[in-house]
Amino acid sequence: MQILKSGGDTLDAVVAGVNLNEEDPEDTSVGYGGLPNERGVVELDASVMHGPTRRAGSVAGITGIRYPSRVAKLVMEQTDHIMLAGQGALDFAKVWGFPEENLLTERARLAWIAWMQSRRDRNGGNTWAPGIDAPDYEPRAGLRRQFPNATEREIAWALDVTQNPPTGTINCLAMNTKGEISGVTTTSGLAWKIPGRIGDSPIIGAGLYVDQDVGAAGSTGRGEENIRVAGAHTIVENMRHGMDPKQACLDCLKRIVRNFNGDHRKLNLFDINFYALRKDGAYAGAALWSGGARQGGYWAAPRFAVNDGDESRLEDCAWLLERKPQ
Ligand code: GLY
Repeated sequence: MQILKSGGDTLDAVVAGVNLNEEDPEDTSVGYGGLPNERGVVELDASVMHGPTRRAGSVAGITGIRYPSRVAKLVMEQTDHIMLAGQGALDFAKVWGFPEENLLTERARLAWIAWMQSRRDRNGGNTWAPGIDAPDYEPRAGLRRQFPNATEREIAWALDVTQNPPTGTINCLAMNTKGEISGVTTTSGLAWKIPGRIGDSPIIGAGLYVDQDVGAAGSTGRGEENIRVAGAHTIVENMRHGMDPKQACLDCLKRIVRNFNGDHRKLNLFDINFYALRKDGAYAGAALWSGGARQGGYWAAPRFAVNDGDESRLEDCAWLLERKPQ
């Protein structure tokens, strides 16, 4: 907002905004501190779109770089390509002076080891966990010993994410007083993924889409389902054809439900959210589910952050399906 108020570009503003998440070690779904792939490597995806120039850039499966959104912006600005992946994206970032770093924080390493230890076979065997003859066979005990500085809360969190891998992500859309629109989406993707798995975030039209004539959209949550409906592009097209942002997002969620023939048992296994900003300033967020339920706990529908220049606030997402407390 400071960049927008000082007359800066909308893309500079959204990238600076998500950089705060990318560098935050407490945010385990984005950038530094993100949960790693199955081999313990943090692989990041990001994309940007700049409405006024109608350009886009993205990086997929980049490792060792704290700010993938900045690299995506450089792909847009300094190449004749749209998307760079893997080693090529890392080499490109290093050419432009990004330091290569270890992005795996101790917190994320704790969760990764907990995940590896959780994969016991039906006889209780697991080459990564203490053997059945070990005194600290119970997984929590071994983790406590190896991570003496971890709190009970952190260990409980680590054990939870072994079973419920998050697909966090952040999408940020902005419009300035001239009506110029830009967007960015950045993520560490699905925790414990197969190395090389690419989610929706770096895919222009899925994790992000901006059309300066219409508006912008983005997504967080299970990327595989978003890719199958080209979500962000679908939402922008819905708005082009007259839907308001909320209707446009809910219609896209209905397509995901259709892909599962409405089977709630399967749909209940994931969460996905969309966000839309129309050229006249109307906006909405919409979630597949009204809330979440896990291990006896229940939480309300996701919220999204809005800043219209005067104040920053959280607003409730609309939702398509009701998930009742268990
Ligand atoms: N939406 C983030 C991902 O699935 O990778």
